[in-house]
Amino acid sequence: MSNGHVLPTRTRCDRTPAWAQLQAHFEGAGRGFDLRGAFAAEPDRFERLSQQAPHVFADLSKNLWDEDTEAMLLRMAAATGLEQHRAAMFGGQPINATEGRAVLHTLLRRPAGLALPGDESSIAGQLAQVHDTLNRMLAYADAVRADDGITDIVNIGIGGSDLGPHMAVKALEEHRAPGKRLHFVSNVDGHELHTVLKSLEARSTLFLIASKTFTTAETMTNARSALAWFAEQGGQDVARHFAALTTNIEGAGALGITTTFGFWDWVGGRYSLWSAIGLPIAIAIGSGGFRELLAGAHAMDEHFRTAPLARNLPVRLGLLDVWYRNFHGFTSRCIAPYHAALGRLPAYLQQLEMESNGKRVALDGTPLSLATSPVLWGEPGTNGQHAFFQMLHQGTDVVPLEIIAVRQATHPLPGHNDKLLANALAQAQALMLGQHSEGGHRHFPGNRPSTFLLLDSLTPGSLGALIALQEHRVFVSGSVWGINSFDQWGVELGKVLAKNIEERLASGDVQALDGSTAGLLARVRAR
Ligand code: F6P
Repeated sequence: MSNGHVLPTRTRCDRTPAWAQLQAHFEGAGRGFDLRGAFAAEPDRFERLSQQAPHVFADLSKNLWDEDTEAMLLRMAAATGLEQHRAAMFGGQPINATEGRAVLHTLLRRPAGLALPGDESSIAGQLAQVHDTLNRMLAYADAVRADDGITDIVNIGIGGSDLGPHMAVKALEEHRAPGKRLHFVSNVDGHELHTVLKSLEARSTLFLIASKTFTTAETMTNARSALAWFAEQGGQDVARHFAALTTNIEGAGALGITTTFGFWDWVGGRYSLWSAIGLPIAIAIGSGGFRELLAGAHAMDEHFRTAPLARNLPVRLGLLDVWYRNFHGFTSRCIAPYHAALGRLPAYLQQLEMESNGKRVALDGTPLSLATSPVLWGEPGTNGQHAFFQMLHQGTDVVPLEIIAVRQATHPLPGHNDKLLANALAQAQALMLGQHSEGGHRHFPGNRPSTFLLLDSLTPGSLGALIALQEHRVFVSGSVWGINSFDQWGVELGKVLAKNIEERLASGDVQALDGSTAGLLARVRAR
C-alpha cells in the first residue's frame, strides 16, 4: 500500500544537533539532577509536567528532567522527522520497510463516518473494509452472547493473538457478560490445553483459533488437539464450535474451519486486538463495549496525531524513555498497575515494547551505536511492594517505575480503594524523597523516578486510550532511534531450530550439534 509515495526521510536521533546538546546537558545538569531540589525551586513543576490526555491523566513531574531537558528532546524529535513519520503511519505508507507493509492499526479504531484528512484519503477503501468486517464480527459476538448453549469460549493463540485479548478481557472483567467463561490457551505445553479441556463439554464450547498467519506452531498444535478432542467428545458441528481469526482464510480452511473473521497484513500481531483478534473481548463485553474500546483508542490517536509535540502525551513519554535509556543508561522500566484487573498489562506491554523496539540495527541494516528497548517487567501493586520494590528503593540500579492507578473502584468493598491508592501515591513519594538514616541499611537514597498514570475508572473507553497511549509512545522512541518498530525477525531463528531439534528428539540424531545441545538432547530422550 505505498500509494506511490516516497517514505519521508528520517534522521537518526544521534545525528541531530540536539543530541550533542542533550549530551552536554546530561553531563552538566542532567546526571546530578535532584528531584527534591527541583520541586523546591519550581513551584509550578507539577502543573508544567503533568497533563490530561483523553481518559488518562499523567504526572511526569517525578522524573529526572526539567523544562530545558524536555525542550531539547522535543527539538531532537522534530529534527528526526518524527511528525512526518507519524503522518506516514496514519496515511498508510509502508513504514514497515523490511516487510513492505503499511502500519494501520489506527484505522481499525477510526469511526466509519469520519472523513479522512486529505493526505489519508487513499486509505478510504481499507476503512470501508474495516467496518464491514467489524460489523460482522460484532454481530457474531452478540449472537454468541445471546446463545445460552455456549458457556465456554476458548481462545487459542499466542503472542499478539493472546496477550492483548487476554489482558483486555481480564481488565474488563466487571463488564463481562454473566454466564460466559473465557479461557486463554497459548503455550504449546499440553498442560495448559489439557487443564482447560478437563473442565469443558464439547456441546457448550466455542474455540476461537486466533493466528494472523495461521502457521504458528504452538497455535496449530493446540488447534489440532482441540479439534481432535471435540471429535472424541462426539462433537460434529465444527462450523458452530470453531471460528478462525486470521489473515489466512485458506489455512483455516485446510484445518476444516469455515467460520472465519479476517484482517489484513497491515495489522501487526502485537497491534491486533482492535481487529478480529479482539473477538474474545467483544464476546466478553458486547458490541457496545467493544465500540467504546475503539472510541477510547481513537481519542488517543487523535491526540497523538494533532496535539503539539510539547503537549502530546505519547511524545512526552516516548522522549522520556529515550532520555532514560540513552543518557541515564537505565536498562529497564518497571510497570506497576494499581488495579488487580490490569494484572496482565505488564506481560502485554513486554511484547509491545520489546518486540517492537528490541532492535540492534538501523533502517538500513547497519548496527546502531545507541541503546534501544529497555527491559519491561512488573506486577500489580501492592503485591510488587512485598516482592521486588526493595530493589527499587535500595538496589544499586535505578529503575524508573510506571504506576497505573484507577481513581474509582468497581467493587463494593469498603476501605480497600483508599488503601490501594494511598500505597500507589506513597511508593512514588518514597522513591522520590527517600529517607536519611545513618548506618546504611535503613537509608533510602531517594531521587528515584516514577511516572504516574491515572484513569478515572477502568472502562472499555479508558482501557482503549491507555493501550493506544502505550502503542504510540513505543512508536515515538522507535521512530527517533531510527529503527523499524514493526518487524520481529528476532523470533525466527528459534522457531527454525526448534523444528530441527524436534526431528532429532524423535530420531536421536545428534550429528553436527554443538556439545551442550547434543548432551541435553540425549538426556531429555533418556526420560
Ligand atoms: O513469534 C512472534 C509472533 O510472530 C508475534 O509477532 C505474533 O504476535 C505471534 O508470533 C503470533 O503470530 P500469529 O498470530 O501469526 O499466530
